[in-house]
Amino acid sequence: MSLKIALMPGDGIGPEVTEEAVRILKNVAEHSGKAISFTTHRIGGVAIDTDGMGLPEATLEAALSADAVLLGAVGHPKFEGRLPSERPEAALLALRQALGGFANLRPAICYPALARRTAFQPERVRGANLLIIRELLGGLYYGEPRGFEASGNTAFNTLIYSRHEIERVAKVGFERARERKKKLASIDKANVLETSRLWRAVVSEMGKNYPDVELEHVYVDTAAMRLATAPTSFDVMLCDNLFGDILSDQAGSIAGSLGVLPSATIGGRVDLYEPVHGSAPDIAGKGLANPIGAIASAAMLLRFSAKMDKEAAEIDHAIEDALAAGARTKDLASPGERVLSTREMGQTIEDALNEVRDRKHSYHGV
Ligand code: IPM
Ligand code: MN
Repeated sequence: MSLKIALMPGDGIGPEVTEEAVRILKNVAEHSGKAISFTTHRIGGVAIDTDGMGLPEATLEAALSADAVLLGAVGHPKFEGRLPSERPEAALLALRQALGGFANLRPAICYPALARRTAFQPERVRGANLLIIRELLGGLYYGEPRGFEASGNTAFNTLIYSRHEIERVAKVGFERARERKKKLASIDKANVLETSRLWRAVVSEMGKNYPDVELEHVYVDTAAMRLATAPTSFDVMLCDNLFGDILSDQAGSIAGSLGVLPSATIGGRVDLYEPVHGSAPDIAGKGLANPIGAIASAAMLLRFSAKMDKEAAEIDHAIEDALAAGARTKDLASPGERVLSTREMGQTIEDALNEVRDRKHSYHGV
């Protein structure tokens, strides 16, 4: 059966990086014999400009009838003055809600070849390998009521979580932790917020069913500091929507660039894959963007939506090999290093992928 992927390149650098992810997926299709079909749809600023709305009906329908959605980025400074509900970002939030995925998985690893590129002393960051699990459909992002009072001088949002919302994402957290180092850090602000008290109580209760997982509760401010000083002290981090948004950008510091971070949103009707980086309008269309976040998101897509673990691992391997061989886009290059364009980086990773595969075959041959 063919794997139907709905592509939503979106705004800014979204189209450029998505193209490179598609290059890799086509390579996988060719070599694995798995049929993969692509359709492309507008979302975000481009959709506002063309269709008069950020999430056109046709885009939503395509997303709901696909096996997986691969998104580039949304957002453009020209919408800066608009209310949140009228901005391209609102389209992404509406899409997430419609697809129903509540667990957003954001891995961040320190690639050995990039350890010196980070702001850390290399020995502090080497080996860092985090999985941030961000609750994606609740909390401040969606809480009602929200808005401005008539005066315009007061504005409000609602931070609300129910037991059910916490349980379902925490379950993903415990299960992922079980498959990794069996360590789960639940992030909250339970010294101040009621929602965090509930979060902590529910996660603690659930922890009893996972006695093999070492559970710790960490205040979000402490977690931010620990990420900045001892990132290897974390493995899986379970966060609410806002804390997860903030800490996952911070986690970019262990990778050396936000440009390499992927994400997968699972648990709903259709799973959604998107790099963590934004639309980066300042470098859009110049071939300067790093496609690794998008390519690694495509690998997550194969892993979760197609059960193609082997192919996903090969892509991850190819990314690591390309970086080890010195492939650098602008965000990763040190002064004097050769800078690859978005396309060249995609091509380099594709070459590395072919090599990873050949190497495997020759091992099997002997
Ligand atoms: C992210 C982004 C989005 C978010 C924006 C674009 C709405 O920052 O995926 O982290 O805040 O969730
Ligand atoms: Mn973000």
